[in-house]
Amino acid sequence: MRDFCALILAAGKGTRMKSERAKVLHTLCGKPMLRMVYDAVAALQPEEIIVVIGQDADRVRELLDGCRATFVTQAQQLGTGHAVMAARQELAKRKGSVLILFGDAPRIRTETLRRLAEHHQASNADMTLLTVQAADPFGYGRIIRDNAGRVRGIVEEKDAAESQKKITEVNPSFYCIRISSLLAALDQIRNQNAQKEYYLTDMLEIQVRSGAKVESVEHDDFEELRGINSRAELAQLAAALRAEKNRALMAAGVTLLDPEQTYIDLDVEIAKDVTVYPAVTLQGSTRIGEGSAIHSGTRIADSRIGAGVAVLDCCLITESTVGDGATIGPFAHLRKQSVIGSHCRVGNFVEVKKSCLGAGTKAAHLAYLGDAEIGAEVNIGAGTITCNYDGVRKHPTIIEDGAFIGTASQLVAPVRVGKGAYVAAGSCITEDVPPESLAIARSRQTVKEGWVRRRKAPK
Ligand code: UD1
Ligand code: CA
Repeated sequence: MRDFCALILAAGKGTRMKSERAKVLHTLCGKPMLRMVYDAVAALQPEEIIVVIGQDADRVRELLDGCRATFVTQAQQLGTGHAVMAARQELAKRKGSVLILFGDAPRIRTETLRRLAEHHQASNADMTLLTVQAADPFGYGRIIRDNAGRVRGIVEEKDAAESQKKITEVNPSFYCIRISSLLAALDQIRNQNAQKEYYLTDMLEIQVRSGAKVESVEHDDFEELRGINSRAELAQLAAALRAEKNRALMAAGVTLLDPEQTYIDLDVEIAKDVTVYPAVTLQGSTRIGEGSAIHSGTRIADSRIGAGVAVLDCCLITESTVGDGATIGPFAHLRKQSVIGSHCRVGNFVEVKKSCLGAGTKAAHLAYLGDAEIGAEVNIGAGTITCNYDGVRKHPTIIEDGAFIGTASQLVAPVRVGKGAYVAAGSCITEDVPPESLAIARSRQTVKEGWVRRRKAPK
């Protein structure tokens, strides 16, 4: 949008969250609140997005790393009006209007912001604000109108008279203000109120008094504009977003056996004919291919699961890739950029760390595969362990195509098992095994016949 910039207030601590973290960093279905607000605004393409930071400033900055944002710091959080003052110099460089919104109202849709901005521009107003009817207006600034129905001011809950508290039209805190009008009025905001804060809400009355043109746009969906101030409100909104996400997935052809017990982050993508069993958590940038099944008790974060994959019960998969047709679990752990090839089988109690398995490879039970590069059609016997750590450094294990690692073997890295080679069960492999050969690395069995009888015989 031309002649438009946006200002997001995100400096507050969020006392009611009782957290060491800035409120705007708390997440809803995997997405920090501020990120949701930012994305909604960014889609409007304002000329600049200014973010006021203060509490937890470094982490807030980091969250928007790589985004088109200008940061200004509000060193002390003396109120929402004070936060806008912190952006004064940045705003003074701009012409046109500024859209002001808060980092703690994350469900806002771009379309609603567009409606506000378009009304503001079309009516050539100095200030335009959104208002909404709230079934329970507690905690929100109430909209004061005159007899002719024109907006006149906003009174905060803590400053409101009993009669004003009955007003159900509230201020969700989305404003468009002409920058010149804003800057001219900013210094008139005082902190003589119940909270001794500089309220941005006072801007409305100041504009009205100066004879500026003030407009309001009534919105009909309170839930979309709701501000999050506590953990309970955060959980409530998360539940609503989750239900919405699950409905969208089901509409797109995903079976959720019990959507109420399925936790899928907003950015997760799932192809059709996938079945998700109860008590599954899918997080971050996870993608799941067509026809796969994810069974109960599994959590998958930031991973790609191919088509026709079965992830059986109780698996943990993070930052990894699983190829088409593979079977994982039950009770498997894949982590740190592991890559499992197509039609592999990684079974019961197998941990795979930063390793790749070629197509058709099997590690069906009880194994630790760390820093290993494993070819195709390899058989990893039960109890195989790559000894990848010498106490200081990690070392690689290479197992070439078609190799067979007998059960209960240890592979002391760095080590290589050549193509098609066999490692006998119970071996401790410390040297490379050439292709097509058999390595037996265990002491020979000795049998002492009659030993027990002799031991028990009276002396
Ligand atoms: C504010 C409004 C209230 C409105 C409600 C809607 C004021 C005075 N009140 O109240 O009318 O109904 O939002 O949700 O504006 N912030 C800063 N610096 C500060 C203080 C706050 O950056 O010094 C930021 C916070 O990070 C937060 C936002 O401003 O994102 C809102 O602050 P908050 O304290 O939650 O305001 P409310 O009491 O909810
Ligand atoms: Ca708030």
